[in-house]
Amino acid sequence: MENKPRETFGSRMGMLLAMSGSAIGLGNIWRFPYTLGQNGGAAFLLIYVLMLVLICLPVMVSEYLIGRRGGSNPFRSFDNLSPGSKWRWIGFVAVLASACILSFYCVVGGWSVKYLFDSFSFAFSDAQSDYAANFSSFIGSPFKPLLYTLIFLCLTGLIIVFGVRKGIERMAKIMITVLFVIIVLVVVRSLTLPGAVEGVRYMFVPDFSKVTADTVIAAMGQAFFSLSIGCGCILTYASYVSKEENILASSAWISFFDTVFAIIAGLAIIPAVYAIAYMNGVDPNVGAGPGLVFITLPGVFSQMPLGGVAAILFFLALMLAAITSSISLMEVVVAFIIEELHRSRVIAVVMTFLICGVVGVFCSLSFGPLEGFKLFGLSVFDFFDYITSNIMLPVGGLLLAVFAGWRLKRANYLDELTNSGKLKIPRWLCLTIYYLVKFVAPIAISVIFLNCILS
Ligand code: PFF
Repeated sequence: MENKPRETFGSRMGMLLAMSGSAIGLGNIWRFPYTLGQNGGAAFLLIYVLMLVLICLPVMVSEYLIGRRGGSNPFRSFDNLSPGSKWRWIGFVAVLASACILSFYCVVGGWSVKYLFDSFSFAFSDAQSDYAANFSSFIGSPFKPLLYTLIFLCLTGLIIVFGVRKGIERMAKIMITVLFVIIVLVVVRSLTLPGAVEGVRYMFVPDFSKVTADTVIAAMGQAFFSLSIGCGCILTYASYVSKEENILASSAWISFFDTVFAIIAGLAIIPAVYAIAYMNGVDPNVGAGPGLVFITLPGVFSQMPLGGVAAILFFLALMLAAITSSISLMEVVVAFIIEELHRSRVIAVVMTFLICGVVGVFCSLSFGPLEGFKLFGLSVFDFFDYITSNIMLPVGGLLLAVFAGWRLKRANYLDELTNSGKLKIPRWLCLTIYYLVKFVAPIAISVIFLNCILS
């Protein structure tokens, strides 16, 4: 097993699409529009972009760098770079965080599968239907959501079984391309509705009176989740990347694609919500929270011309985006099991499926039969969402930045960034990234973390 050469991505484009696929997911289509809606629209967007450049991009570069230099799963990569030290346990916690995220992510992924099936039978064409009641009765029922959660997890496992090139890379290429085409079609439909322009204005004309400390925190948390940083996904994918790649350019492209996609997803949703609200003479509720995509949008589709087709395309996009992210989460755990527990890829996938499936079942049931069961005052789903997004990702990002900035020597960091001087990246740029990683990112992340503990 040890002598078997490690798989790598087949092409630069494949690697970029796989990593972008990890970043682009429910975080962009499901979470970003309602977080934007809850935090004052354009002003949030500006702060989000600032966080991205100052904190998240440097952390992503470091995670990428550790993965490529370490050349293994998160646990082994840290050990390779700092042999025998306790740092490898950060890698282990990253694997654990990925398993925890996958356990609740597959529940929402399952909802997207169910809504896609429903849209095929034009279930969202009745403007009188109570979509809020439909949604809560679905997620609260004991068996149906479990079935969809497991279907979603099976689809994820089926792709991972085929490995890095034939599974992850090939599917990412197809899915991200289809996803992009679909979402652009939905944007065109949304923007051509009368009154949509108000929604566009809401997204792009900032109102700074809405900005509070919470807006800044929300923007930072969203950026971490959306870029898939802090839990070993980028690290694991980077371990399949050739030594010739330009780490800085790849990280910049991934962050750029992810942000552009979040804005496009916002344009697919927010103007449509505005247009239909105006048509009905009510206030647009873009801050509707997690129900925006599953409650508000079906209502919007039911009232717009060509809404049935838009619904099919939209929920297909949602499911594809969710799968390209869930495969990256599963791959972190699978790579760990293959390399540390010396199991075959198939066995590793089955083990991950079983572990995350069992936890996923509890997450799903927490909307129904297990509603009353609380962990630290939170439902099982909310508990996993909370400890991963608010604690494990920021702490993971913080420790990655501290490791990269303080433990790896500056010379090693710059050497890896420039591929031992082969890439002509201006020295000031390399140093800026290095100091952002060493000082700015750890301090800023500590602020989010403290906020999470204290709030
Ligand atoms: N970035 C994904 C999304 O936006 O949906 C979610 C995610 C995937 C978070 C992988 C963390 C991760 F490691």
